[in-house]
Amino acid sequence: MRYHCLVLLSLMLVSYAACSDAVLGGWRPVKDLKERHVVEIAEYAVSEYDKRSGAKLKLVSVVKGETQVVAGTNYRLVLKTKDGSAINNYEAVVWEKTWLNFRNLTSFKALHS
Ligand SMILES: *[C@@H]1O[C@H](CO)[C@@H](O)[C@H](O)[C@H]1NC(C)=O
Repeated sequence: MRYHCLVLLSLMLVSYAACSDAVLGGWRPVKDLKERHVVEIAEYAVSEYDKRSGAKLKLVSVVKGETQVVAGTNYRLVLKTKDGSAINNYEAVVWEKTWLNFRNLTSFKALHS
């Protein structure tokens, strides 16, 4: 009897862990890369990168996007940018907490293809 309860309890813990992992921490693809808010996050990433590094990149388009729910939302976007005539892709991660009006560029790195 006691053994069964333990088995049941551990099964519940395992499925709870699996379930919360799907909601928290899992990356989901962004369906509409042209959605206003996604483009706004992308523009923010490029301008923030330019501000921090002194570069003069311009956003051309969002090539790929994923979001992750983590006390707010992480956006991981592949951005096509232009610097004069050079076209380059970057992977940017922006962390947003809309209810606090908080946004931060946490990573911005060149993708070498
Ligand atoms: C934003 O992210 C950068 C890079 O990870 C970090 O150095 C900085 O402290 C962050 N700023 C805030 C306000 O969280």
